[in-house]
Amino acid sequence: MATDESTLEQRLSELLDTETFEPPAEFVDQALITDASQPGDFVEAWAERAKALDWFAPWETTLDDADPPFYKWFVGGKINASHNCLDRHVQAGSGDRVAFHWRGEEGEERDITYAELHADVQKFANVLKDRGVEAGDVVGIYLPMIPEVVVAMLACARIGAPHNVVFGGFSAESVAERMEFSDAKLLVTVDGARRKGKTAPIKETVDGCMPDLPCIVVRHTDNGAPMADKDAFYDDLMEAADAECPAAELDAEHPLFVLYTSGSTAKPKGILHTTGGYLTHVAWTHKNVFDLKPESDVWFCSADVGWITGHSYIVYGPLANGATSIMYEGAPDYPHRGIWWECCERYGATLFYTAPTAIRACMKWGVEHVEKHDLSKLRLLGTVGEPINPKAWLWYREVVGRGEAPVVDTWWQTETGGIMITTLPGAQHMRPGSAGTPLPGITAAVLDEEGNEVDRGTQGLLALRRPWPGMLRTLFRDDDRFVETYWDKWGKETYLVGDASRQEPEDGYFWVIGRVDDVINVSGHRMSTAEIESAIVSHPKVAESAVIGQQDEDTGQSVAAFVTLEGENDEGSDELIEEIRSHVADRIGKFARPKRIIWAGDLPKTRSGKIMRRLLRDIAEGRELGDVTTLRDPDVMKELEQEFAGRDGGED
Ligand code: WTA
Repeated sequence: MATDESTLEQRLSELLDTETFEPPAEFVDQALITDASQPGDFVEAWAERAKALDWFAPWETTLDDADPPFYKWFVGGKINASHNCLDRHVQAGSGDRVAFHWRGEEGEERDITYAELHADVQKFANVLKDRGVEAGDVVGIYLPMIPEVVVAMLACARIGAPHNVVFGGFSAESVAERMEFSDAKLLVTVDGARRKGKTAPIKETVDGCMPDLPCIVVRHTDNGAPMADKDAFYDDLMEAADAECPAAELDAEHPLFVLYTSGSTAKPKGILHTTGGYLTHVAWTHKNVFDLKPESDVWFCSADVGWITGHSYIVYGPLANGATSIMYEGAPDYPHRGIWWECCERYGATLFYTAPTAIRACMKWGVEHVEKHDLSKLRLLGTVGEPINPKAWLWYREVVGRGEAPVVDTWWQTETGGIMITTLPGAQHMRPGSAGTPLPGITAAVLDEEGNEVDRGTQGLLALRRPWPGMLRTLFRDDDRFVETYWDKWGKETYLVGDASRQEPEDGYFWVIGRVDDVINVSGHRMSTAEIESAIVSHPKVAESAVIGQQDEDTGQSVAAFVTLEGENDEGSDELIEEIRSHVADRIGKFARPKRIIWAGDLPKTRSGKIMRRLLRDIAEGRELGDVTTLRDPDVMKELEQEFAGRDGGED
C-alpha cells in the first residue's frame, strides 16, 4: 500500500524520540557475530582474521612496530590480492558465481562470473606486461563505472603494479596532476563516458592535458576518440593477449594502490595502501559488518570505484569474500529516480550501502520511487561518508528497510583503508546519528589538544591509538608529510584523524561531528578548501579567494567562496560567477564548483596576512563573529556580512 508522506512524516517524528534500536531477533539468530567485545590481544585477533585469506607463504611477524609510525603487517608473508579475489574462488568451484550484475545507464545488462573476470584479468595483466609495466610501476586508471575498471585494477594487483584510480568526475587537469605526482607509466581510460544520456569525450580531454602519456582506451561510446601511436584500444589488445598470467607472489607489504585524497593544502595526498594488511582489513570488515553470506547475499554498494569506498567495498572486500554484487553505471536519478531500487529488485539485493546525502536526496524525491519496487529481500543497510542526521537514518530504516533492517553507520577514511567505527549488526544496538564503537581490534579515543582523554559527552579530537592492518603506510614518496600530517600532534603512536567527536555518556558510542581542518565534505566527497581556492585564483580576473564549507541541508556541506577581483572592479557579475564556477569544473571537477560566490572587496586577514577563515565561517553560519581584534582591518567584516546577506551567487 502506498505510504502517505504526511503519515510517514508523523511516524518519523515519533521515532525521533527513540534513542536506540535493537536489531531484530531473527537477524541476531542468523548473524555471523553476536559478540562485539574487544579481543584480549588485538594483534592475535588480526592474525586469525588474516588466515581467511590464501597466502603463498606464511608471515613471520604479524605486526612490526619497531619504527612508528611506519608500521608493517604480516611481515615475510607472500600474497596476491588478485589471486585472493579470483583464482581461489574459481579453484574452489565457484567460477560460475556472478561477481557483478552490471547495469548500464541505458538499461544494458551484463552478468560477469568469477571465471570470466579471472580470464579477463589474466589477459589484461599480460597486456600491461607487454606494454612494459613491471612490478612497482604505477598505472593510472580513469574510467567510469564499467566492469573494465575492476579488470584493470585486479590486473595491476596481479603483477604488483600499484594502481592510481582517479574518480571519473574529476577533470582531466586533475587526472594529469595525479598522474604526474605518481609518475604513472600509462593510463587506462575510455573513449567517452555516459552522463545522463549525454556523452563526455574523455579521451579527447585527456589528450588536451596529457599529450604524451600512453593510453589504453576502453571502447565504450564509440564517439570517434582521437588515437595516437602511443595509444591502443583495450579490446584490440585483449584479443591479442595470452590467456594465462600467474599471480605474482608479492610481499605482504608490497604497494597495492595509491589513491589521492584532499588534505589541508592545495596538493592532494597520495594515500599508499599495501597488500596483506589492507586485504585482511577490508575482507574481514566487509564480511562481518555487513553479515555477508556469499552464497546467498547480493551486495549493492552505490559508491564510485574512484573513491576509497569503491576500492574497499566494491572491489577488494566483496571479491575477496566471493560475493555477488550489483554495479550501476549511472547517477541515482537517471533514467529515473527509482533506478537503485529497480536494480535492488531485479537482482535481488539483500545488502545495500550508500551515503547519507543520497538518502536525503531520496527523501526529497518521495517514497513512491522506493515503494514501486519490491525490496523485501533487503536485510541490512549501511551508510558511509559523512554524519547522518537521525531523521534520514530513520527514513532509510522505515522506507528502504521496511522498519526492520538494521542500519550500520560506518565511520572510516581513505587513510584507514576500511571500516573502523560502527555497530556489528547482530551484536549491538543502534543509535541513529552515532556511528557506534570501534570494531573489535580497533581502539579510538576522543582527546584534547594535549592528548588527554576528555570526559564522555565532551567534544574533542578523534584519535586512533593502535595500528590496524588497513592503515595507510605513508604518503606516496612523501614520508615527511605523512609524519607531519598524522603523527606530529601527539607523538608517533597516536593517529590524528582530523574529525571532531564526542562519546555518548551512556554507552560510549562515538558521534563523529565533522572535520576540524580545512577539508570539507560535500555529498560525501572530500575536498580541500585550499585546492578550490587555488583553482579559483588561477582565473585571470581573480585576485584572491577564501573558500569555506557552509552547512547544507542536502549535501551536508556546500562550497562557499569569497572572491576578490583584480583591479578596482570588485563588483562581479552573474556571468563572472558562472565563468568562475566552470573554471573550477575544468580545474578540479564539477562536484567542486562553489554553490555560492560572495564578492569581497577585501578578506579578513591577520596583521601577518593570514586569512581568518574562522570568521568567514561565522558569517556563513550566521553566528556571532568571533574575536576580530587581531584583524588588520576590522571593518572588512562588516562589509562582508552585508555582502553575504545581500545576494546569492550561483546555484545549480
Ligand atoms: C567523514 C570515506 C561521520 C569523516 C570512507 C572522515 C564520516 C571523512 C563517516 C573521510 C561517518 C566518513 N560518520 N563522518 N559514518 N564516514 N566520514 O577519506 O569526516 O572520503 O574523516 O573516506 O569522511 O572521507 P574519505
